[in-house]
Amino acid sequence: MNASICLVAVRRGWTQRLRRPSPSLVPCCLQSTQPVAAARLPYRVKLSAGKRYAWCACGHSKKQPFCDGTHVSKAPTIQPLRFTADKDKAVMLCACKQTKGAPYCDGSHLKVIFQDLVKSIKGVFK
Ligand code: FES
Repeated sequence: MNASICLVAVRRGWTQRLRRPSPSLVPCCLQSTQPVAAARLPYRVKLSAGKRYAWCACGHSKKQPFCDGTHVSKAPTIQPLRFTADKDKAVMLCACKQTKGAPYCDGSHLKVIFQDLVKSIKGVFK
């Protein structure tokens, strides 16, 4: 990431310091500001009525599809989506993190799969 567009550095007021290269600031610029796909297909999960959940929006959690707090270090600008289940039900929770109806799957993973396919095909013909 270009140091001039590092949102974490801007938020913390480090933009002046970034103009002078410093090895200690590099990890900040390696944090993601966009979600990453945890998987290509959604997770089928049974929700319990009245229970609160925190859906991982960054894609870095090891307890997918739920937040384990990893976003604090890997994607500090992204917050989990907290929600309460209204009744006991099985749902499909988004894993590609591109859904427009978070936390539920809206089929956006098909676009992600297609983009991956195009990239791999382009790689074959290089
Ligand atoms: S670990 Fe992904 S939102 Fe918390």
